[in-house]
Amino acid sequence: MQNVVIVGGTGGIGRQLALAHLARGNRVIVSGRDAARAQAVATELNATTGNDGEAYGIRTDLRHPTELARSLADLDAIGVDTVDTLVLAGMERDLNTVSAYDIARAVQLVTVKIVGYTTMVHLLRDRIAGSVLLFGGTAKDTPFFGSTTVSTVNAAVTGMVRTLSLELAPIRVNAIHLGIVADSPFWQGDRSMIDALAGDTLARDLTTTADAVHACLFLTDNPSANQIDLRLDGGRR
Ligand SMILES: NC(=O)c1ccc[n+]([C@@H]2O[C@H](COP(=O)([O-])OP(=O)(O)OC[C@H]3O[C@@H](n4cnc5c(N)ncnc54)[C@H](OP(=O)(O)O)[C@@H]3O)[C@@H](O)[C@H]2O)c1
Repeated sequence: MQNVVIVGGTGGIGRQLALAHLARGNRVIVSGRDAARAQAVATELNATTGNDGEAYGIRTDLRHPTELARSLADLDAIGVDTVDTLVLAGMERDLNTVSAYDIARAVQLVTVKIVGYTTMVHLLRDRIAGSVLLFGGTAKDTPFFGSTTVSTVNAAVTGMVRTLSLELAPIRVNAIHLGIVADSPFWQGDRSMIDALAGDTLARDLTTTADAVHACLFLTDNPSANQIDLRLDGGRR
């Protein structure tokens, strides 16, 4: 049984990745901004998976890096002294432009994805036994209107992969940069946009959550996968 910590595991892709690890019999700690919600999600995951693995929920609010050390006590309480896989997927959506620049939203996203992710790696550095996986996004290469901060922080994830893999070696550090994930709850309000964007990919189809989970498992499982900054979007024309 491996210990898998998924920050941002209470919803979306992180939650589906949690299910995949539970099916393998792993102990999975899912976290988000709120302890009660995280624990409720863990209860749901355990009910879904029966006796395969074990899920626990803790609070890890990346908006407040100076408070993240508290999550170590939560991991101690669960008995997690070794982390085989650390996944950093948490983020809040942000639409920001230079012309209508919302400084508070920008600072929050920079804090979550850059300082928050790095602080979690810092705090867990002596417990990580296998690998770290960071979530970026293809907006770093293909910006869209409103992605000013999103594009910037996702590009920073590329820098984090390079420097963290160097500093943590032999611990492996990889990143996944997804394009729009077609079945994400966030995008379901605009199916016509999803269908149009699918036509823009070389694969003529957008990435799905299942595709994303498959790629995450490759990056964390494969002992030679290190310093990979993987773009997964079906290919762009
Ligand atoms: N879905 C896409 O189309 C897409 C495309 C490109 C990149 N990505 C990247 O993939 C990752 C996952 O995306 P998703 O669509 O699965 O997201 P999602 O469905 O919106 O889920 C976000 C997760 O992050 C957690 N979270 C939000 N704010 C947090 C904070 N301050 N501290 C800790 N956790 C926080 C949420 O938990 P709580 O609500 O419980 O706090 C939730 O578990 C993100 O990093 C995103 O940038 C996604």
